[in-house]
Amino acid sequence: MEAARFLQQQCPIQPEVAIVLGSGLGGLVDQIDIQREIPYKEIPNFPVSTVQGHKGTLICGTLNHRPVLVMNGRFHFYEGLSMESVTFPIQVMNQMGIKKLILSNAAGGLNPSFEIADIMIITDHINFMGTNPLIGPNDDSLGPRFPDMSEAYSHRLIKLAKKVGEEHHIKLQHGVYIGVTGPSYETPHEYNMFHILGADAVGMSTVPETIVAHHLGMEVFALSVITDLGVLGQIEKASHEEVLNAAAKAGPNMVKLVSELVPQL
Ligand code: HPA
Repeated sequence: MEAARFLQQQCPIQPEVAIVLGSGLGGLVDQIDIQREIPYKEIPNFPVSTVQGHKGTLICGTLNHRPVLVMNGRFHFYEGLSMESVTFPIQVMNQMGIKKLILSNAAGGLNPSFEIADIMIITDHINFMGTNPLIGPNDDSLGPRFPDMSEAYSHRLIKLAKKVGEEHHIKLQHGVYIGVTGPSYETPHEYNMFHILGADAVGMSTVPETIVAHHLGMEVFALSVITDLGVLGQIEKASHEEVLNAAAKAGPNMVKLVSELVPQL
């Protein structure tokens, strides 16, 4: 509440949509009419991100005339932060009255029909992180003890995004995202196992934020940029640099999709 109050004092207009930018997807920032950019370290109780290529500022402004709050850089479990810290910003967004959340990430492709720099709409997830951000006492005023997860990713928003993709000739894949802790990338047989388990992409974020946002009753939409392929027989060495390069390649389409989608949400 303290962080939310601070941000409400900082932001001249009430944000309606929150957007979390993943690795290499910071290009969206150029499309925002920025009113305030606040380093995480200035926000009361906010964690501070440590990963290279991940920025650490919260931006309020308008995107295509819609008031937004953008997290330029997120927090990951592999940084050694608690699940509570990783998802703290989502709690703050909810306290600020934001009801719609767009998450983006870089992910390894598991589906053999995917190509590097494809954009995948996340239709569902598998929580393979071995923990859950809702473990601990539940505040029943915020959400139920045992939240339903049958539609974690809003079907309404997925439909809208597909329509926007068609209108703007943006190639969109869709599929299931499996969330792992990282920070090591997968061995070839781990990639293969995740595909057998029913996942189309694997990554180290998004799942905790989605669980917390959904618990709070927020409407969630999420996108992965496929930055490397974990398909047996065609696996090359994965590196953070390669991930950032592929994310940058998909950047313009990602930016187009999100900025056209936001006013319609
Ligand atoms: N595995 C896990 N996380 C990732 C990957 C991957 O191959 N690529 C980008 N983030």
